[in-house]
Amino acid sequence: MCGIVGYLGPLNPKDVIVGGLKKLEYRGYDSAGVAILDGGLVKRVRAEGKLRNLEAKLAHESFDGHLGIGHTRWATHGVPSERNAHPHQVGGVSLVHNGIIENYLEIKEALLKRGANITSDTDSELVAHLVAEQVKIQKDLLKAVQVVLKELRGAFSILVIWDQQPDRLVAFKDGPPLVIGLGEKQTFVVSDVQAALNYTKKFMYLEDREIALVQGTGVQVFSSAGAPLQKPVVELNWNADQVEKKGYSHYMLKEIYEQPHAVSSAMAPHIDATNQTVRLSKVGFGGAGVTHLESLDAAKDWEQTQKIFASVNRVTIVACGTSYYAGLVGKYLIEALAKIPVEVDVASEFRYRKPVLLKDTLVITVSQSGETADTLAAIRLAKENGLQTLSICNVRNSSIDREAHGHLYMNSGPEVGVASTKAFVSTLAIFNLVATAFGQARGQLSLGQAREQVQALLAVPSQMEVVLAYDKYFADAAEDFKSFKGFLYMGRGVSYPIALEGALKLKELAYLHAEGYAAGEMKHGPLALIDERMAIVMVAPSDDLFEKTVSNLEEAKARGGKIISIGTGENERLKSISERYLGIPKAHWSTNPLLEVVPLQLMAFHLADSLGHDVDQPRNLAKSVTVE
Ligand code: M6R
Repeated sequence: MCGIVGYLGPLNPKDVIVGGLKKLEYRGYDSAGVAILDGGLVKRVRAEGKLRNLEAKLAHESFDGHLGIGHTRWATHGVPSERNAHPHQVGGVSLVHNGIIENYLEIKEALLKRGANITSDTDSELVAHLVAEQVKIQKDLLKAVQVVLKELRGAFSILVIWDQQPDRLVAFKDGPPLVIGLGEKQTFVVSDVQAALNYTKKFMYLEDREIALVQGTGVQVFSSAGAPLQKPVVELNWNADQVEKKGYSHYMLKEIYEQPHAVSSAMAPHIDATNQTVRLSKVGFGGAGVTHLESLDAAKDWEQTQKIFASVNRVTIVACGTSYYAGLVGKYLIEALAKIPVEVDVASEFRYRKPVLLKDTLVITVSQSGETADTLAAIRLAKENGLQTLSICNVRNSSIDREAHGHLYMNSGPEVGVASTKAFVSTLAIFNLVATAFGQARGQLSLGQAREQVQALLAVPSQMEVVLAYDKYFADAAEDFKSFKGFLYMGRGVSYPIALEGALKLKELAYLHAEGYAAGEMKHGPLALIDERMAIVMVAPSDDLFEKTVSNLEEAKARGGKIISIGTGENERLKSISERYLGIPKAHWSTNPLLEVVPLQLMAFHLADSLGHDVDQPRNLAKSVTVE
């Protein structure tokens, strides 16, 4: 978590770094700080809380140098406070860090024995001490970092500058991302490309235990053993203005409204317009590597993908949070359409529970950021065990994307709101396509059935526009939520993961207690919770399970529960049982989830907003969870 920005170049570093940190604030907002050259020394300014507090302090500061680093923090070691804010300074060394130093206790003990004056509670300051000790010996920042890196264990990305070598910045990592932006006579080192997109679209991705020396107008990258490396430069097609609010009050609201477009963009590359069927485009299982996907022969690549889909005997989907719930929808779709067993696992459990990994398994990871530490570890584990891996990511060239054998993209555009929305629906679209392709490759779906799936998916963007047009009703419904003490979100079948996702949205945005349940589980415990202050949010589309879902609703109502239901069209039956009824357009069973989730997102958004919460940056959270 945490966002870091480094800059060396002709522009005003204060503006570049603070501008970059604004784009990275989604990664953490407990404190922020900068260290910038001024008068031959490095001047540091830090503030507790959101970036605006730092900006207020910086309003009266100027710097005459052209080198600086900045940080926005999600606290791990040490409470959020100015004392614990980055950059940490020891002697002339200034350092920012994202991640966790796992052997910090050992390092701290050794430093204390050597008489170090430790002034914060962080693990990060300890690294600044180690570098400060080494620059005295090595008389060179790069050499000092090469020595220090050997001592560090954990997950970290670090930028460091030294006032005795004011023309250089050194960056290194093991775990969380670091990307080097290559501009005209200027260089940026950032946690996420969004922080430098205003200046360049050319990026170099640092790999674990590599060290980058940014000096003058150039960058050299070395292995941890000091060998110079040739790194590929990737040109991105994201625009800086995609990261703006464009007139919406919040990023999250803008991203909810972008969902029809996100779904279209996710499916567009993979639909064969002539046959109206699925043809997954340039997945790259053949081993081309993520930077060479564009140059693949599309026909050969598709053949390869189909071969893998036909040859595996099971699928394991691994992800965290909202991406995990998207994976659960994937399970229902792939099992129904391809008749192949699918397991879905939370990445933090998968990586440690010693899973039985059979060779004929395809492991699919889902991650918007492509940087979630547990999901990254899961894909590595799968590869170590010789399994084929396929990643569904939004951020191209992210760590997970780079690790995977095969690659599919959400194509949602940058998602800035901490609560994931458009990446979720894009993933559901991708799972529809994957399930259809799987079904065909395994002879379980006829061409006609595959076409039916594609047609259902093609209808989604306009159906979603209809749902969005009812936003005002969702805002009204959210007002009702204020009178409840708790919420049970329920659904059956493919709508069950949507209930889980709806409950998560309410928890993370409105800070209210909500649980997601399979509706059939009510009698096995949750019914005891029900009284007139408990709301039941039921996702009940007109599908094969509708009658059973209605029975569950009747049971809850008979016990005093207040019902908010989401169903298909004008459903009189649901209306008569519910306090609030919200209709969505009639859709295919496999695409219902893409529509059902929209009212749940909007209700959570409106409730949180009217309670005065920071919807884009909910308390205690960060968008990219790069530590476990
Ligand atoms: O970037 P990822 O998709 O790997 O992130 C996974 C979760 O951290 C993420 O979905 C999280 O649950 C969101 N805050 C949910 O809105």
